[in-house]
Amino acid sequence: MDNRPIGVFDSGLGGLTVVKEIMKQLPNESIIYFGDDGRTPYGTKSKQTVIKYTSQDLAFLLSMNVKLVVVACNTVSAVALPELISDINVPVVEVINPGAKSALKKTKQGRIGIIATTATTQSGVYANAIKSLNPNVEIVSKACPLFVNLAEEGWWENDIAKMVANEYLEELRQEKIDTLVLGCTHYPMLINTIQAVMGEDVVLVNSAKELSVTLKNLLREENLESANEIAQYQYYTSDSVEKFKALGEMILGKEIKNIKRVDLDCFKAGG
Ligand code: DGL
Repeated sequence: MDNRPIGVFDSGLGGLTVVKEIMKQLPNESIIYFGDDGRTPYGTKSKQTVIKYTSQDLAFLLSMNVKLVVVACNTVSAVALPELISDINVPVVEVINPGAKSALKKTKQGRIGIIATTATTQSGVYANAIKSLNPNVEIVSKACPLFVNLAEEGWWENDIAKMVANEYLEELRQEKIDTLVLGCTHYPMLINTIQAVMGEDVVLVNSAKELSVTLKNLLREENLESANEIAQYQYYTSDSVEKFKALGEMILGKEIKNIKRVDLDCFKAGG
């Protein structure tokens, strides 16, 4: 048993879509969440920059004595984690492999679309993860970078969101995919808009569910499950507490207390 919190982080508020599912599946687990709103988005930045930001995010969370880290960001999982994972001294759960597994469970015709940030798409990591589990599926990938800004702006279902979604997703509609992976943790905020554009026949995959199953199993295997009766949630942002609160409450669908602003300048990259 281990009552210490789980550390969860993302480039911004998108990782709260993962936190929401963890809260549901693992209600006894305390969570410390860090959203790097001051430096979001990561998905349009170079690999070196994402690695630098990620090592500071990790240094912060590890300084909070977390028992395990959930990387609730596909961009970090795809681009930075492979370079940094050997330096992390607690178990780590990432989002790509659960998303890949989930897509393969859902597809009927083996035609899978992946939408993600530019960095995740260019890394090819999602397509590789799916193909390594089943080489016979067809995969079409498309970067949708503006979805992150729309999500962070709270523009999830307005006309601008619909227009951008139509423009990005037309190509995938033509490809007649039957399953679409939301390969960025911000995208579940736009789920209704994306579903409307793709049509009801296309199954949308949010990796948070499968991730929570992976997390649950890992906590059990490593004997890290919490015996807390009441979980504690603490939130940290590198930008405005007010913005975090407003959008965070929209995502979680409940009041958020305990938000603090943190400056990561004192957490050196790589150390
Ligand atoms: N939410 C992040 C992801 O899952 C990234 C968004 C961004 O910072 O570009 O990829």
